[in-house]
Amino acid sequence: MSHGFSGAGEGPQTPDGCSVELYRRLPYMGELEAIEPVLIEHPAVLELGCGTGRLCARMVALGLRVTGVDESTEMLAHLPAGVEAVCSKIEALALGRRWPAVLLASHLVNHPEPAVREVFAAAAWRHLTPGGCFFVKRHDTRWLQTVQAGFIGAAHGVAYHAEQIERRGAEVSMRLRYELDGSRWWHSFTTTAMSEAEVESLLRAQGFGACRWLGDKRLWGVAGGVA
Ligand SMILES: C[S@@+](CC[C@H](N)C(=O)[O-])C[C@H]1O[C@@H](n2cnc3c(N)ncnc32)[C@H](O)[C@@H]1O
Repeated sequence: MSHGFSGAGEGPQTPDGCSVELYRRLPYMGELEAIEPVLIEHPAVLELGCGTGRLCARMVALGLRVTGVDESTEMLAHLPAGVEAVCSKIEALALGRRWPAVLLASHLVNHPEPAVREVFAAAAWRHLTPGGCFFVKRHDTRWLQTVQAGFIGAAHGVAYHAEQIERRGAEVSMRLRYELDGSRWWHSFTTTAMSEAEVESLLRAQGFGACRWLGDKRLWGVAGGVA
């Protein structure tokens, strides 16, 4: 199975196949709801893989100071006012500053290459204040194991279809089609299902302390940076 990431549709795509125009137009869909009570205890947040800043905008509205990191200048060009932009691969990030909260959303932790997952966690660790919190969102493992090709669902004006799905053990490759306001975008990617224990072990290896799981499906992990 190939780990190739690609995308198609109007406008440019990032190296991992995300469409800038799609993310520019997608509304905020409540992704941070489960962690907001904990997140707002931290005055400043570093989001790794921020895209156009959909989640950054919500964090700014919550009163947080936000820095967003992405490797795509085309994504960063759409960041909301007041968000500090950093163009970098997460793997190479070395800002020499630390934040009380670091966020890795959008299932980036489920990257199919174990070495990439490790460097993502390491980047979070070296930018986190001792005693700070790392917020990490994993894919719903059950969904990855059971989703079938066809219409997946619609929410907030966006319709989702899986055009192709291949499974090999914990690894799932799929091509998703997004439809919004008469436009269509495609995203092909491979992701690896990760249990709570697997994410915890990944984080422990970098030095993180205990992880608690938030949300009804326990998909948001909050791990402490050991003081
Ligand atoms: C699915 S989009 C999500 C963006 C944002 N978190 C949101 O929810 O709207 C993933 C973003 O992560 C960025 N990204 C993926 N891998 C990256 C890496 N290794 N280094 C920097 N940015 C990365 C992509 O360029 C893309 O903008």
